[in-house]
Amino acid sequence: MVEVIPSGEVLGARVIGLDLSQPLSDRALGIVLRALADHAVLCFPGQRLDAGAQVAFSRRFGELEVHVSGAFQDPAHPEVMTLSNITENGRPIGLADAGQDWHTDMSFSRMIAFVNVLYALKVPRRDGKALGNTEFASMTAAYEALPPELKTRLAGLTATHDFEKFWEMMRRRKGAATPRAPLTEEQRRKKPPVSHPMVMKHPISGRRILYANPGYTMRVDGLPQDESDALLEYLFDHQVRPEFIYAHRWTEGDVLVWDNLQTLHNAVDDYGPDEPRLIKRCQAMANLVFEPGFARLAGGAAG
Ligand code: OGA
Ligand code: MN
Repeated sequence: MVEVIPSGEVLGARVIGLDLSQPLSDRALGIVLRALADHAVLCFPGQRLDAGAQVAFSRRFGELEVHVSGAFQDPAHPEVMTLSNITENGRPIGLADAGQDWHTDMSFSRMIAFVNVLYALKVPRRDGKALGNTEFASMTAAYEALPPELKTRLAGLTATHDFEKFWEMMRRRKGAATPRAPLTEEQRRKKPPVSHPMVMKHPISGRRILYANPGYTMRVDGLPQDESDALLEYLFDHQVRPEFIYAHRWTEGDVLVWDNLQTLHNAVDDYGPDEPRLIKRCQAMANLVFEPGFARLAGGAAG
């Protein structure tokens, strides 16, 4: 039997009773999708996955993206990427500083992301306390809390998202664990800025979501620069108010699946090079979730 246990906080639930190394039935996928729509961040504790099983599970949510960096990929399954601060023979085995500021994965892409699937093998600890939490902010709650006149104003607006924004921010960061060169013309051509509506309707829950994030959102389309700057500054502040935030504290064996449509996330950088962290990651895109038949697996699209 599958059990969904809500965290009782703004986001988050634990899902018990599924062995993710085994094929997932449509019925089980439906339960997971419903729980994702309702809680956005799902932890499946006590899992054991090899790369093939992680790919098979992640694929149920959408087409898998192979990470742009082209580095730290599983040789047999390039869709699986390693996030880690561990070095072997002086070489890093993974991307050491992924996601260390508020962002939404793939918002810079024409096809945006649905879920991430992260599987924890090593969690850094100090005095028995887990470090390297992943924090999430609810964009459903953030939208709902906006002043009514701002909701109306945002309804017709789109914003431009650019991969280079986060890249440049990380490049300028002092003591970055992973050195980054400026993007080449070629890389920029591959990742042109894209526009997305600032308010979306969640394809499963039907609830409205504020879709913008400090990591990649550059400007509000069609507004004078100063108005765009002021609006984004207001929203970036609003989005990470404490009441919208939930922190996942990792345990080895956790599989964490989160809904990028309705959250921002931030990898907390509070551990050192001698406190090893090792996570395997897959990224599933939103190509399936906007198909009506897919939302029906979760008990019907909400209009
Ligand atoms: C990511 C990411 C957060 C973390 O994988 O997209 O932002 O805590 N990771 O590792
Ligand atoms: Mn991320």
